Amino acid sequence: MTTLVIIPTYDERDSLPVTLAGVREHAPQVDVLVVDDASPDGTGEVADALAASDGQVHVLHRAGKGGLGAAYVAGFGWGLARGYDVLVEMDADGSHRPTDLPRVLARAAAPDEPALVIGSRWVPGGSVVNWPWHRSLLSRGGNTYVRLALGMPVRDATAGFRAYRAATLRRIDLSSVESHGYCFQVDMTWRVVRHGGTIVEVPITFVERVAGVSKMSRAIVAEALGKTTAWGLAYRTRRLRSGLAELTRGAR
Ligand code: GDD
Ligand code: MN
Repeated sequence: MTTLVIIPTYDERDSLPVTLAGVREHAPQVDVLVVDDASPDGTGEVADALAASDGQVHVLHRAGKGGLGAAYVAGFGWGLARGYDVLVEMDADGSHRPTDLPRVLARAAAPDEPALVIGSRWVPGGSVVNWPWHRSLLSRGGNTYVRLALGMPVRDATAGFRAYRAATLRRIDLSSVESHGYCFQVDMTWRVVRHGGTIVEVPITFVERVAGVSKMSRAIVAEALGKTTAWGLAYRTRRLRSGLAELTRGAR
């Protein structure tokens, strides 16, 4: 089984080397792809230098800041074209601990081959370190809303530490994914659920970054809220319509 860990970067020149070293230490068998959106701070060059001295590290350069979702879609395309069996999402900023990676990978490689393994903050054993209370509330509240709006039994649908089977990604029409921020994570989770894929949550400890800044913004929260509501309504309307059609057929 071959695994690719995809790390999107935007202004992570100090964090990336630490994260990469951690991944290489705790999961030496995996390949890594850094997807950099022409970071103004030169993260792309830092990544190139690291790749030059390590054959398992690769870099995909994109022209400009296109959002987390677009960076992952590009990374997935790169990895699928090269035949990896498992594709992992991981942040560069240290929030996703390389020490948690082996457990996520082991679960993804288990004989039942779950479609998606989520490194989850909100299952027993999972946690967040260094978040102010309002950020925890936002994440918990957001996840509760997502669970209710979409009716999917996932505790951490916005999580950005996750492992997909290549087959799962091949079933999804990645070119139609338009979500940019956290919403991308919800979007992908929802697509896996609708394709009937099994999702397993493995507890992780999410450590808020100590260097650099988060790219999360009000616009990203608004996108997630708006799109989740729209997907939930569309799904319920479709179900209602087919239920009604069923009923009228029965009545005839
Ligand atoms: N290439 C690229 N392009 N990378 C990006 C972009 C972009 O436009 N925006 C962010 N990134 C990279 C960052 O450099 C970092 O490695 C990773 O994506 C996560 O970005 P952060 O800005 O650190 O996000 P966060 O900590 O607020 O959000 C994390 O937690 C969320 C849930 O609480 C991420 O894991 C999200 O995916 C997750 O939904
Ligand atoms: Mn972060």
